[in-house]
Amino acid sequence: MAEEKNIVVAEHISKSYVGVQALNDVSITIKEGEIKCLAGENGCGKSTFVKIIAGVEEPTAGRIVINGKEMTKHTTKDAIDEGIQVIFQDLSLFHAMSVAENIAMNKLVKEGKPLTNKKEIEKIARDALNLIGVDIPLDVQVQELSIANRQLIAICRALALDARLLFMDEPTTALTKNEVDSLLNIVLGLKARGIAVVFISHKLDEVMRIADSITVIRDGHKIGDFAASEIDSKKLAYYMTGRQVDYQQYSRNLENEEKLLEVRNLTKKGNYEDVSLSVRKGDILGLTGLLGAGRTELALSIFGLNKPDSGEIYMEGKKVTISSPDDAIDLGIGLVPEERALQGLFLQKSVNENVAAAILKRLKGLFGNIDSGKSRALAKEAIDTFRIKVYNEDTLVGTLSGGNQQKALIARWAASSPKLFMLDTPTVGIDIGSKAEIYEYIQKFASEGMGIILISDEVEEIVANCNRVIVMFDGHVVKEYTEEEMKDPDIKEKINALVESGKPGKGAAVS
Ligand SMILES: Nc1ncnc2c1ncn2[C@@H]1O[C@H](COP(=O)(O)OP(=O)(O)O)[C@@H](O)[C@H]1O
Ligand SMILES: [Mg+2]
Repeated sequence: MAEEKNIVVAEHISKSYVGVQALNDVSITIKEGEIKCLAGENGCGKSTFVKIIAGVEEPTAGRIVINGKEMTKHTTKDAIDEGIQVIFQDLSLFHAMSVAENIAMNKLVKEGKPLTNKKEIEKIARDALNLIGVDIPLDVQVQELSIANRQLIAICRALALDARLLFMDEPTTALTKNEVDSLLNIVLGLKARGIAVVFISHKLDEVMRIADSITVIRDGHKIGDFAASEIDSKKLAYYMTGRQVDYQQYSRNLENEEKLLEVRNLTKKGNYEDVSLSVRKGDILGLTGLLGAGRTELALSIFGLNKPDSGEIYMEGKKVTISSPDDAIDLGIGLVPEERALQGLFLQKSVNENVAAAILKRLKGLFGNIDSGKSRALAKEAIDTFRIKVYNEDTLVGTLSGGNQQKALIARWAASSPKLFMLDTPTVGIDIGSKAEIYEYIQKFASEGMGIILISDEVEEIVANCNRVIVMFDGHVVKEYTEEEMKDPDIKEKINALVESGKPGKGAAVS
């Protein structure tokens, strides 16, 4: 067996900024061809470590060996010469230049070649794109590409420079679920080509899916190095947060039995069929099942974004027609959608503007102008209440971590005090600390009398938060668990078994 070689050996690295010890005696070794995940909550020092290895920042103390060479005060160029490439969160692409130029430019500069040979530029770009097996037109400007595709361009630019080690700093923050899947596949493909990847993330599911080894950092200290096979996501969460994560079980204790929302025989061909359900004040109704079960489409219908073919919706006993989100909002209905990056937040706007968006009507003064003082005060309050980690209320939402974006979105709705609040898979890809906080908010809203519909694939999440649960497969309600049934100590196993039975090839419970 070939001897395992180390690309980077970093020993006892410390880094302090004015007033902050970003890293404290951290030692990390990166082996050739491995996928190492650097995991830790926001602000723990992950990016600082990357910057030090890449020669962007100088450590306050410590020793760095790259490819067997002792580095002292190395520059970014030194790192690049050793085959180290970093994809920072901002990607550093030239937006007004073409795909081909962006991929090839650094290589040509490095080799001291002219930047004008179109044939060579295109060849470099094509070769790099082939390496990751994607097809993006060479002549379009980068600014016309989606964020996911821009990221691929940044990866190709690194590959064109013969990267042997690629750092990716929180690459999935602005991606949708599908885009994350394809990115993770590309990372696995790089590894198959012998390229080492250091994948930085605070998202447990991503880390567990691709890592060979995991290094956990907390508050600037290394907590440990683990082989991916010796750690599970519960332990990982514990190491990242230092807290045992136990979720508070919700139980409803309101006397009021009136139905806040009632849906009768609602049908939308191809989405869901003959769905009936009701939500009382103080209910957290779980909607679980399988992806594609029709839950999202149902929620969108209740929010006026997916017109049902037949059936009825009642809100507080009155039959209603909800043809638009405006209608829904007027009735006191809020929705945190599945793809928050696409539908829920204005990423290019500040926390302040996002919070204001849900309550525009209340903030409009006599002449229809938004009362900016009031809006700012509300945003500040939301940042405090929801512990959103931002510099101030003018911070752009798009620059926040997933957990903080989600909290901003929930804060936005909370500011408008909806009667019925629907949350579609609100904790997917969110760090464990934010997850527990989101549960706390949902339960608090419900205990204050809000009615909640929580859509989730995670049975553990459903069991911790919901006092009633509906399971859907393939557009149909197949089972409703009552408040009594939810008190069964084996309820988690029972729901799990039912959901498992609905998976393809397992003899689905519905035809
Ligand atoms: N240039 C800087 N000046 C001052 N403090 C910084 C600077 N860069 C990072 N920090 C601080 O160092 C700590 C670690 O930050 P960072 O490495 O960016 O964390 P992570 O990438 O894990 O979220 C944080 O407290 C952050 O505020
Ligand atoms: Mg970072």
